[in-house]
Amino acid sequence: MQSLRYRYDGERGWDLKWMISSITVERQLIDHPPIVVRSLSACEWQLKRDLRLAALQDSPWAFASSYDLEIHRSEDERRAWPRDGVYFAAFHERQAVGIAGSWMRAGEPQVTHLISMWVAPDVRGAGIARLLTEAVVGWAREREATRLELEVAAGNDAAMCAYLRAGFVVTKRTPSTSCRTVLELAL
Ligand SMILES: CC(C)(COP(=O)(O)OP(=O)(O)OC[C@H]1O[C@@H](n2cnc3c(N)ncnc32)[C@H](O)[C@@H]1OP(=O)(O)O)[C@@H](O)C(=O)NCCC(=O)NCCS
Repeated sequence: MQSLRYRYDGERGWDLKWMISSITVERQLIDHPPIVVRSLSACEWQLKRDLRLAALQDSPWAFASSYDLEIHRSEDERRAWPRDGVYFAAFHERQAVGIAGSWMRAGEPQVTHLISMWVAPDVRGAGIARLLTEAVVGWAREREATRLELEVAAGNDAAMCAYLRAGFVVTKRTPSTSCRTVLELAL
């Protein structure tokens, strides 16, 4: 755990001790989580904005949106988005390191959509997407949805692996763009 802490505290690059103990550390992170995942309230719109813009800058190919489009959103829009939905953030020692959202389309109460999944590059592989997915699944179940859907861009192998490991399956549903695949999880 100590060597992982060094990474978070700003040392850049790979720490040899961290690499050797990474498998143990991953399990510790999940079993004794220093990671806290919680929903963001409307008044935390600036944090929501910062995480979302960081995601769009870091992984523009992963999302059906763009930094240039979202940088211009107003405060009101940021507070309200996602409508009929929620954003969760993952924190390590009070620092936000990941985000994922979910929402429901009007007139489609059985289906929830997982959106905006992103984990900061230097903490990937430590189970944070898994924790964020679990939070979204819990939120969807509370709403008595029977299905959680999401879209993955072609070539996004990390995301595809993470979702398949979480129990999602590939569907033949029509995605928002031709270069994406719709996955679903039965709830
Ligand atoms: C995809 C992403 C969210 C995964 O986050 P993460 O915190 O590193 O994922 P986790 O550590 O929770 O891993 C969850 C599972 O996926 C697997 N996984 C994660 N990254 C992987 C990779 N690059 N290659 C293979 N498997 C991978 C893990 O092995 C893990 O399986 P396990 O529970 O059996 O060990 C992260 O890489 C990311 O933010 N990518 C850029 C944005 C993005 O693609 N978002 C998704 C949009 S649909």
